[in-house]
Amino acid sequence: MALNNAMTADFLRSAYGGESMAHMRYLIWGDQAEKDGYPNIGRLFKGVAYAELVHASNHFTVLKEQVGDSSVAAGAVFGKTDIVENLQGAINGELHEVDQMYPVYLETAKFQNEKDAQRSFHFALEAEKIHAKLFKDAQDKAKTKTDIGSEEIYVCPICGYTEIGDNVEKCPVCGAKKDIFKSF
Ligand SMILES: [Fe+2]
Ligand SMILES: [Fe+2]
Repeated sequence: MALNNAMTADFLRSAYGGESMAHMRYLIWGDQAEKDGYPNIGRLFKGVAYAELVHASNHFTVLKEQVGDSSVAAGAVFGKTDIVENLQGAINGELHEVDQMYPVYLETAKFQNEKDAQRSFHFALEAEKIHAKLFKDAQDKAKTKTDIGSEEIYVCPICGYTEIGDNVEKCPVCGAKKDIFKSF
């Protein structure tokens, strides 16, 4: 389905930019967490980085007919310090998406009757709520100089839903079967 509205297209480009940077940032922070002696928080960063790749890919795909160059302004988070501060940056980024960015983008896509964009924004919004909580839980551990547990981390490749441990049979956000989830 073609995109018909410039504002929804702009929001998709910006969200693509934000997700792309989050993906890279979490890989960087994940490497650092491993080096600093937090291998499981490192895996959490890597798993969530993959979820952000899923979101970026979904937004990019909705934009597939918008061929051409573009300048993109997107929310970014900087800083590479210690694990507690890096996790705070991650929490801040996720909460910005949950509290402001995606609700506004989603309402715009609804108003403009852009179904594919609605789906892409909805998937991201639901996953980011979970990411904020996972990073907060990890930060509570890191504040006591403790790593999180060694349970496997699962990510839905369709919507980016993320969970620690084997708790669901299918994705509660998009309905995908668990056997296609990627594990970290
Ligand atoms: Fe996220
Ligand atoms: Fe899903």
